[in-house]
Amino acid sequence: MSVSDDPSRVAGGPALTDLPDDVSVATEEGRRLAEQLADNRRHARKLLEVRNLSTHFYTRDGVVHAVDDVSFELDYGETLGIVGESGCGKSVTALSLTRLIASPPGKIVSGQIIFDGIDVLKLSNEEMRLLRGKKIGFIFQDPMTSLNPTLTIGYQIAESAKTHLGLSRKAADDRAVELLSKVGIPRSRERMGDYPHQFSGGMRQRVMIAIALACDPMLLLADEPTTALDVTIQAQILELIRSLSDEFGTAVILITHDLGIAAGMCHRINVMYAGRIVETGLVDDIYEAPRMPYAWGLLDSLPRLDEVKGARLRTIEGMPPDLIDPTSECRFAVRCKYVHDRCRSEEPELTPRDGEGHMARCFGTEPEGWIQ
Ligand SMILES: Nc1ncnc2c1ncn2[C@@H]1O[C@H](COP(=O)(O)OP(=O)(O)O)[C@@H](O)[C@H]1O
Ligand code: SF4
Ligand SMILES: [Mg+2]
Repeated sequence: MSVSDDPSRVAGGPALTDLPDDVSVATEEGRRLAEQLADNRRHARKLLEVRNLSTHFYTRDGVVHAVDDVSFELDYGETLGIVGESGCGKSVTALSLTRLIASPPGKIVSGQIIFDGIDVLKLSNEEMRLLRGKKIGFIFQDPMTSLNPTLTIGYQIAESAKTHLGLSRKAADDRAVELLSKVGIPRSRERMGDYPHQFSGGMRQRVMIAIALACDPMLLLADEPTTALDVTIQAQILELIRSLSDEFGTAVILITHDLGIAAGMCHRINVMYAGRIVETGLVDDIYEAPRMPYAWGLLDSLPRLDEVKGARLRTIEGMPPDLIDPTSECRFAVRCKYVHDRCRSEEPELTPRDGEGHMARCFGTEPEGWIQ
Protein backbone atom coordinates (compact mmCIF):
# COMPACT_ATOMS: atom_id res chain seq x y z
CA MET A 1 0.00 0.00 0.00
CA SER A 2 1.42 3.38 -0.96
CA VAL A 3 1.32 6.21 1.54
CA SER A 4 -1.23 8.08 -0.56
CA ASP A 5 -3.48 5.01 -0.33
CA ASP A 6 -3.15 4.85 3.41
CA PRO A 7 -6.72 5.09 4.67
CA SER A 8 -5.55 6.54 7.94
CA ARG A 9 -3.86 9.49 6.30
CA VAL A 10 -5.59 12.75 7.01
CA ALA A 11 -4.93 15.73 4.76
CA GLY A 12 -1.87 17.52 6.09
CA GLY A 13 -1.31 15.04 8.91
CA PRO A 14 1.01 12.08 9.29
CA ALA A 15 -0.14 8.63 8.22
CA LEU A 16 -0.60 6.13 11.05
CA THR A 17 2.03 4.00 9.40
CA ASP A 18 4.56 6.86 9.62
CA LEU A 19 4.36 6.82 13.39
CA PRO A 20 6.13 4.39 15.68
CA ASP A 21 3.89 1.65 17.09
CA ASP A 22 4.75 2.38 20.65
CA VAL A 23 4.92 6.11 21.17
CA SER A 24 6.42 7.01 24.51
CA VAL A 25 4.67 9.88 26.25
CA ALA A 26 7.62 10.44 28.59
CA THR A 27 9.14 13.14 26.36
CA GLU A 28 7.71 16.29 24.84
CA GLU A 29 8.12 14.83 21.37
CA GLY A 30 6.52 11.54 22.45
CA ARG A 31 3.55 13.42 23.87
CA ARG A 32 3.19 15.43 20.68
CA LEU A 33 3.35 12.27 18.56
CA ALA A 34 0.85 10.47 20.79
CA GLU A 35 -1.54 13.40 20.45
CA GLN A 36 -1.09 13.38 16.69
CA LEU A 37 -1.67 9.65 16.61
CA ALA A 38 -4.83 9.91 18.68
CA ASP A 39 -6.04 12.84 16.59
CA ASN A 40 -5.23 10.97 13.41
CA ARG A 41 -7.14 7.93 14.63
CA ARG A 42 -10.08 10.14 15.51
CA HIS A 43 -10.13 11.50 11.98
CA ALA A 44 -9.21 8.28 10.19
CA ARG A 45 -11.46 7.91 7.20
CA LYS A 46 -13.80 4.98 6.82
CA LEU A 47 -14.07 3.01 3.62
CA LEU A 48 -17.81 3.56 3.64
CA GLU A 49 -20.07 5.97 5.47
CA VAL A 50 -23.80 5.66 4.91
CA ARG A 51 -25.90 8.40 6.43
CA ASN A 52 -29.69 8.46 6.66
CA LEU A 53 -30.17 6.46 3.49
CA SER A 54 -33.77 5.97 2.34
CA THR A 55 -34.80 4.11 -0.80
CA HIS A 56 -38.42 3.90 -1.94
CA PHE A 57 -40.29 2.00 -4.63
CA TYR A 58 -43.25 3.71 -6.24
CA THR A 59 -45.80 0.96 -6.89
CA ARG A 60 -49.48 0.91 -7.80
CA ASP A 61 -50.31 -0.05 -4.21
CA GLY A 62 -48.32 2.80 -2.70
CA VAL A 63 -44.79 3.82 -1.78
CA VAL A 64 -42.66 0.93 -0.43
CA HIS A 65 -40.22 2.26 2.18
CA ALA A 66 -37.69 -0.51 1.46
CA VAL A 67 -34.74 1.18 3.19
CA ASP A 68 -35.71 3.76 5.77
CA ASP A 69 -33.17 6.14 7.30
CA VAL A 70 -30.28 3.67 7.47
CA SER A 71 -26.84 4.81 8.72
CA PHE A 72 -23.71 2.73 9.20
CA GLU A 73 -19.96 2.70 8.59
CA LEU A 74 -17.41 0.23 7.35
CA ASP A 75 -13.68 0.29 8.04
CA TYR A 76 -11.06 -0.58 5.45
CA GLY A 77 -10.67 -4.36 5.37
CA GLU A 78 -13.57 -4.94 7.75
CA THR A 79 -16.27 -7.59 7.31
CA LEU A 80 -19.76 -6.39 8.14
CA GLY A 81 -22.82 -8.63 8.21
CA ILE A 82 -26.28 -7.37 7.25
CA VAL A 83 -28.73 -9.84 8.71
CA GLY A 84 -32.50 -10.16 8.71
CA GLU A 85 -35.47 -12.07 7.35
CA SER A 86 -36.43 -11.95 3.73
CA GLY A 87 -37.89 -8.63 2.59
CA CYS A 88 -36.33 -6.46 5.32
CA GLY A 89 -34.25 -4.33 2.92
CA LYS A 90 -30.85 -6.05 2.81
CA SER A 91 -30.52 -6.30 -0.96
CA VAL A 92 -32.02 -2.87 -1.56
CA THR A 93 -29.38 -1.46 0.83
CA ALA A 94 -26.59 -3.14 -1.17
CA LEU A 95 -28.05 -2.07 -4.51
CA SER A 96 -28.46 1.49 -3.25
CA LEU A 97 -24.78 1.65 -2.24
CA THR A 98 -23.83 0.98 -5.84
CA ARG A 99 -26.75 2.87 -7.39
CA LEU A 100 -28.09 -0.26 -9.04
CA ILE A 101 -31.70 0.36 -7.97
CA ALA A 102 -34.02 -0.04 -10.96
CA SER A 103 -35.51 3.38 -11.55
CA PRO A 104 -38.45 3.48 -11.99
CA PRO A 105 -39.92 2.10 -9.78
CA GLY A 106 -37.10 2.64 -7.26
CA LYS A 107 -35.42 5.82 -6.09
CA ILE A 108 -32.90 6.79 -3.44
CA VAL A 109 -34.91 9.58 -1.88
CA SER A 110 -32.46 10.84 0.72
CA GLY A 111 -29.15 10.28 2.45
CA GLN A 112 -25.48 10.30 1.75
CA ILE A 113 -23.09 7.50 0.72
CA ILE A 114 -19.38 8.26 1.05
CA PHE A 115 -17.18 5.51 -0.39
CA ASP A 116 -13.42 5.93 0.07
CA GLY A 117 -13.96 9.67 0.40
CA ILE A 118 -16.15 9.86 -2.72
CA ASP A 119 -19.71 11.21 -2.54
CA VAL A 120 -21.40 8.40 -4.48
CA LEU A 121 -24.76 10.08 -5.01
CA LYS A 122 -23.05 13.02 -6.74
CA LEU A 123 -21.22 10.94 -9.37
CA SER A 124 -22.29 10.91 -13.03
CA ASN A 125 -23.53 7.55 -14.34
CA GLU A 126 -20.22 7.00 -16.15
CA GLU A 127 -18.18 7.76 -13.01
CA MET A 128 -20.44 5.41 -11.09
CA ARG A 129 -19.88 2.64 -13.63
CA LEU A 130 -16.12 3.06 -13.23
CA LEU A 131 -16.35 3.07 -9.45
CA ARG A 132 -18.40 -0.14 -9.46
CA GLY A 133 -16.06 -1.87 -11.86
CA LYS A 134 -12.82 -0.83 -10.21
CA LYS A 135 -13.53 -0.68 -6.52
CA ILE A 136 -16.57 -2.83 -5.73
CA GLY A 137 -16.98 -6.51 -6.54
CA PHE A 138 -20.34 -8.32 -6.34
CA ILE A 139 -21.20 -11.89 -5.51
CA PHE A 140 -24.87 -12.81 -5.76
CA GLN A 141 -26.90 -15.78 -4.59
CA ASP A 142 -27.35 -17.22 -8.04
CA PRO A 143 -24.23 -17.04 -10.22
CA MET A 144 -26.23 -18.05 -13.31
CA THR A 145 -28.01 -14.70 -13.31
CA SER A 146 -24.67 -12.86 -13.33
CA LEU A 147 -22.56 -15.10 -15.54
CA ASN A 148 -23.06 -14.84 -19.29
CA PRO A 149 -23.92 -18.38 -20.49
CA THR A 150 -22.60 -17.69 -24.00
CA LEU A 151 -19.07 -16.62 -23.01
CA THR A 152 -16.24 -18.72 -21.62
CA ILE A 153 -15.45 -18.09 -17.99
CA GLY A 154 -11.84 -17.24 -18.90
CA TYR A 155 -13.10 -14.47 -21.17
CA GLN A 156 -15.49 -13.15 -18.52
CA ILE A 157 -12.80 -12.89 -15.84
CA ALA A 158 -10.12 -11.53 -18.18
CA GLU A 159 -12.52 -8.97 -19.67
CA SER A 160 -13.12 -7.46 -16.25
CA ALA A 161 -9.36 -7.24 -15.56
CA LYS A 162 -8.70 -5.84 -19.04
CA THR A 163 -11.38 -3.15 -18.85
CA HIS A 164 -10.84 -2.02 -15.32
CA LEU A 165 -7.12 -2.53 -14.79
CA GLY A 166 -6.08 -1.68 -18.35
CA LEU A 167 -4.19 -4.98 -18.77
CA SER A 168 -3.21 -6.40 -22.16
CA ARG A 169 -5.11 -9.51 -23.32
CA LYS A 170 -2.17 -11.75 -22.38
CA ALA A 171 -1.73 -10.19 -18.92
CA ALA A 172 -5.49 -10.31 -18.32
CA ASP A 173 -5.58 -14.00 -19.30
CA ASP A 174 -2.70 -14.74 -16.92
CA ARG A 175 -4.53 -12.92 -14.16
CA ALA A 176 -7.70 -14.92 -14.89
CA VAL A 177 -5.76 -18.20 -14.63
CA GLU A 178 -4.18 -17.08 -11.36
CA LEU A 179 -7.54 -16.03 -9.92
CA LEU A 180 -9.21 -19.27 -10.95
CA SER A 181 -6.56 -21.26 -9.17
CA LYS A 182 -6.81 -18.95 -6.12
CA VAL A 183 -10.52 -19.64 -5.83
CA GLY A 184 -9.81 -23.35 -5.96
CA ILE A 185 -10.65 -24.36 -9.53
CA PRO A 186 -8.34 -27.23 -10.47
CA ARG A 187 -6.55 -27.22 -13.86
CA SER A 188 -7.34 -23.52 -14.11
CA ARG A 189 -5.60 -22.84 -17.45
CA GLU A 190 -7.46 -25.69 -19.16
CA ARG A 191 -10.79 -24.59 -17.71
CA MET A 192 -10.50 -21.04 -19.06
CA GLY A 193 -12.25 -22.15 -22.25
CA ASP A 194 -15.23 -23.76 -20.47
CA TYR A 195 -18.71 -22.24 -20.31
CA PRO A 196 -20.69 -21.62 -17.09
CA HIS A 197 -22.98 -24.64 -17.57
CA GLN A 198 -19.92 -26.91 -17.48
CA PHE A 199 -19.40 -26.04 -13.78
CA SER A 200 -21.31 -27.26 -10.70
CA GLY A 201 -23.18 -24.72 -8.51
CA GLY A 202 -20.31 -24.44 -6.03
CA MET A 203 -17.72 -24.09 -8.79
CA ARG A 204 -19.81 -21.41 -10.53
CA GLN A 205 -19.90 -19.49 -7.27
CA ARG A 206 -16.09 -19.73 -7.17
CA VAL A 207 -15.97 -18.33 -10.71
CA MET A 208 -18.22 -15.46 -9.58
CA ILE A 209 -15.78 -14.73 -6.77
CA ALA A 210 -12.88 -14.73 -9.25
CA ILE A 211 -14.74 -12.22 -11.45
CA ALA A 212 -15.60 -10.09 -8.41
CA LEU A 213 -11.92 -10.01 -7.44
CA ALA A 214 -10.57 -9.53 -10.97
CA CYS A 215 -10.31 -5.76 -10.63
CA ASP A 216 -8.83 -5.90 -7.13
CA PRO A 217 -11.80 -4.23 -5.39
CA MET A 218 -11.70 -2.46 -2.03
CA LEU A 219 -15.16 -3.78 -1.18
CA LEU A 220 -16.80 -7.09 -1.88
CA LEU A 221 -20.60 -7.08 -1.67
CA ALA A 222 -21.77 -10.65 -1.12
CA ASP A 223 -25.57 -10.91 -1.21
CA GLU A 224 -26.65 -14.32 0.14
CA PRO A 225 -23.66 -15.86 -1.67
CA THR A 226 -24.20 -19.39 -0.42
CA THR A 227 -27.96 -19.72 0.02
CA ALA A 228 -28.37 -21.92 -3.05
CA LEU A 229 -25.55 -24.29 -2.06
CA ASP A 230 -25.48 -27.35 0.16
CA VAL A 231 -24.02 -27.01 3.62
CA THR A 232 -20.55 -28.42 2.92
CA ILE A 233 -20.02 -26.30 -0.19
CA GLN A 234 -21.48 -23.34 1.69
CA ALA A 235 -18.77 -23.63 4.34
CA GLN A 236 -16.05 -23.91 1.69
CA ILE A 237 -17.24 -20.80 -0.16
CA LEU A 238 -17.47 -18.77 3.05
CA GLU A 239 -13.99 -19.86 4.04
CA LEU A 240 -12.76 -18.86 0.59
CA ILE A 241 -14.30 -15.38 0.90
CA ARG A 242 -12.75 -15.01 4.33
CA SER A 243 -9.25 -16.08 3.29
CA LEU A 244 -9.27 -13.95 0.13
CA SER A 245 -10.48 -10.94 2.09
CA ASP A 246 -7.61 -11.47 4.55
CA GLU A 247 -5.08 -11.94 1.76
CA PHE A 248 -6.13 -8.92 -0.30
CA GLY A 249 -7.29 -6.72 2.60
CA THR A 250 -10.70 -6.42 0.92
CA ALA A 251 -13.60 -5.20 3.03
CA VAL A 252 -16.71 -7.36 2.80
CA ILE A 253 -20.40 -6.70 3.33
CA LEU A 254 -21.97 -10.10 3.80
CA ILE A 255 -25.73 -10.16 3.43
CA THR A 256 -27.46 -13.17 4.89
CA HIS A 257 -30.67 -14.21 6.62
CA ASP A 258 -28.57 -16.53 8.77
CA LEU A 259 -27.18 -14.94 11.92
CA GLY A 260 -25.01 -18.02 12.48
CA ILE A 261 -23.17 -17.47 9.17
CA ALA A 262 -22.70 -13.78 9.93
CA ALA A 263 -21.41 -14.55 13.42
CA GLY A 264 -18.78 -16.90 11.99
CA MET A 265 -17.56 -14.46 9.35
CA CYS A 266 -18.03 -10.87 10.46
CA HIS A 267 -16.46 -8.31 12.77
CA ARG A 268 -19.71 -6.42 13.17
CA ILE A 269 -23.36 -6.99 12.38
CA ASN A 270 -26.27 -4.79 11.40
CA VAL A 271 -29.57 -6.51 12.14
CA MET A 272 -32.26 -5.16 9.79
CA TYR A 273 -35.99 -5.30 10.22
CA ALA A 274 -38.67 -3.66 8.08
CA GLY A 275 -36.24 -1.37 6.28
CA ARG A 276 -34.46 -0.21 9.42
CA ILE A 277 -31.33 -1.17 11.37
CA VAL A 278 -32.73 -2.41 14.68
CA GLU A 279 -29.47 -3.54 16.30
CA THR A 280 -25.81 -3.02 15.47
CA GLY A 281 -22.58 -3.92 17.19
CA LEU A 282 -19.61 -6.22 17.41
CA VAL A 283 -20.46 -9.84 16.69
CA ASP A 284 -19.59 -10.99 20.22
CA ASP A 285 -21.79 -8.35 21.86
CA ILE A 286 -24.77 -9.15 19.66
CA TYR A 287 -24.30 -12.86 19.98
CA GLU A 288 -23.83 -12.83 23.74
CA ALA A 289 -26.14 -10.02 24.75
CA PRO A 290 -28.55 -9.03 21.99
CA ARG A 291 -30.72 -6.11 23.11
CA MET A 292 -33.58 -6.31 20.66
CA PRO A 293 -36.26 -9.05 20.86
CA TYR A 294 -36.12 -9.49 17.08
CA ALA A 295 -32.42 -10.44 17.33
CA TRP A 296 -33.35 -12.95 20.06
CA GLY A 297 -35.81 -14.39 17.59
CA LEU A 298 -33.11 -14.70 14.94
CA LEU A 299 -30.73 -16.33 17.41
CA ASP A 300 -33.45 -18.73 18.50
CA SER A 301 -34.03 -19.83 14.97
CA LEU A 302 -30.38 -20.90 14.61
CA PRO A 303 -30.01 -24.68 14.36
CA ARG A 304 -28.34 -26.13 17.42
CA LEU A 305 -25.77 -28.87 17.13
CA ASP A 306 -27.57 -31.02 19.72
CA GLU A 307 -30.84 -30.87 17.82
CA VAL A 308 -32.02 -33.90 15.90
CA LYS A 309 -30.86 -33.71 12.33
CA GLY A 310 -33.71 -32.71 10.07
CA ALA A 311 -35.79 -31.22 12.90
CA ARG A 312 -37.64 -28.08 11.89
CA LEU A 313 -36.02 -24.79 12.80
CA ARG A 314 -37.86 -22.57 15.20
CA THR A 315 -38.91 -19.44 13.38
CA ILE A 316 -40.18 -16.10 14.58
CA GLU A 317 -43.95 -16.16 14.58
CA GLY A 318 -45.83 -13.71 12.43
CA MET A 319 -44.89 -11.73 9.36
CA PRO A 320 -42.81 -8.58 8.92
CA PRO A 321 -45.02 -5.50 8.50
CA ASP A 322 -46.02 -3.97 5.22
CA LEU A 323 -43.41 -1.44 4.11
CA ILE A 324 -46.05 0.73 2.46
CA ASP A 325 -46.85 3.64 4.79
CA PRO A 326 -45.03 2.32 7.87
CA THR A 327 -46.78 3.12 11.13
CA SER A 328 -45.29 5.23 13.89
CA GLU A 329 -45.12 2.34 16.37
CA CYS A 330 -42.21 -0.05 16.95
CA ARG A 331 -42.14 -2.01 13.72
CA PHE A 332 -41.68 -5.27 15.62
CA ALA A 333 -44.62 -4.57 17.98
CA VAL A 334 -47.11 -6.92 16.33
CA ARG A 335 -44.73 -9.87 16.77
CA CYS A 336 -43.08 -8.96 20.06
CA LYS A 337 -44.11 -10.77 23.21
CA TYR A 338 -42.67 -7.98 25.38
CA VAL A 339 -44.79 -5.25 23.77
CA HIS A 340 -46.05 -2.41 26.03
CA ASP A 341 -48.35 0.55 25.39
CA ARG A 342 -45.38 2.82 24.66
CA CYS A 343 -44.23 0.56 21.82
CA ARG A 344 -47.58 1.08 20.10
CA SER A 345 -47.54 4.86 20.24
CA GLU A 346 -43.98 5.74 19.22
CA GLU A 347 -41.03 4.17 17.44
CA PRO A 348 -37.83 3.60 19.41
CA GLU A 349 -34.55 5.19 18.23
CA LEU A 350 -31.26 3.30 18.07
CA THR A 351 -29.72 3.94 21.50
CA PRO A 352 -26.31 2.87 22.90
CA ARG A 353 -25.96 -0.37 24.85
CA ASP A 354 -23.02 -2.12 26.54
CA GLY A 355 -20.19 -2.77 24.09
CA GLU A 356 -18.31 -0.76 21.47
CA GLY A 357 -20.74 0.77 19.00
CA HIS A 358 -23.52 -1.50 20.28
CA MET A 359 -26.92 0.10 19.64
CA ALA A 360 -30.44 -1.26 19.73
CA ARG A 361 -33.88 0.03 18.89
CA CYS A 362 -36.07 -1.15 21.78
CA PHE A 363 -37.75 0.67 24.69
CA GLY A 364 -37.93 -2.53 26.71
CA THR A 365 -34.15 -3.02 26.98
CA GLU A 366 -33.28 0.63 27.66
CA PRO A 367 -31.96 1.31 31.20
CA GLU A 368 -35.44 2.13 32.55
CA GLY A 369 -37.10 -0.50 30.36
CA TRP A 370 -39.12 -3.50 31.49
CA ILE A 371 -36.89 -6.24 30.02
CA GLN A 372 -33.55 -6.69 31.78
N1 LIG B 1 -38.41 -3.55 -7.78
C1 LIG B 1 -39.16 -3.48 -6.66
N2 LIG B 1 -40.41 -2.98 -6.71
C2 LIG B 1 -41.16 -2.88 -5.58
N3 LIG B 1 -40.75 -3.27 -4.36
C3 LIG B 1 -39.50 -3.77 -4.26
C4 LIG B 1 -38.64 -3.90 -5.40
N4 LIG B 1 -37.46 -4.46 -5.00
C5 LIG B 1 -37.60 -4.64 -3.65
N5 LIG B 1 -38.81 -4.23 -3.23
C6 LIG B 1 -39.31 -4.29 -1.84
O1 LIG B 1 -38.35 -3.76 -0.99
C7 LIG B 1 -38.36 -4.46 0.24
C8 LIG B 1 -36.96 -4.90 0.59
O2 LIG B 1 -36.53 -5.87 -0.36
P1 LIG B 1 -35.10 -6.56 -0.32
O3 LIG B 1 -34.07 -5.55 -0.01
O4 LIG B 1 -34.96 -7.29 -1.61
O5 LIG B 1 -35.23 -7.58 0.88
P2 LIG B 1 -34.15 -8.64 1.39
O6 LIG B 1 -33.88 -8.25 2.81
O7 LIG B 1 -34.84 -9.96 1.31
O8 LIG B 1 -32.95 -8.57 0.52
C9 LIG B 1 -39.35 -5.61 0.08
O9 LIG B 1 -40.56 -5.23 0.68
C10 LIG B 1 -39.49 -5.73 -1.39
O10 LIG B 1 -40.78 -6.19 -1.73
S1 SF4 C 1 -39.86 -1.54 21.60
FE1 SF4 C 1 -41.44 -2.83 22.51
S2 SF4 C 1 -42.40 -3.94 20.82
FE2 SF4 C 1 -40.47 -3.08 20.08
S3 SF4 C 1 -39.01 -4.72 20.33
FE3 SF4 C 1 -38.89 -3.48 22.18
S4 SF4 C 1 -40.33 -4.39 23.62
FE4 SF4 C 1 -40.79 -5.25 21.62
MG1 LIG D 1 -32.16 -10.07 -0.73
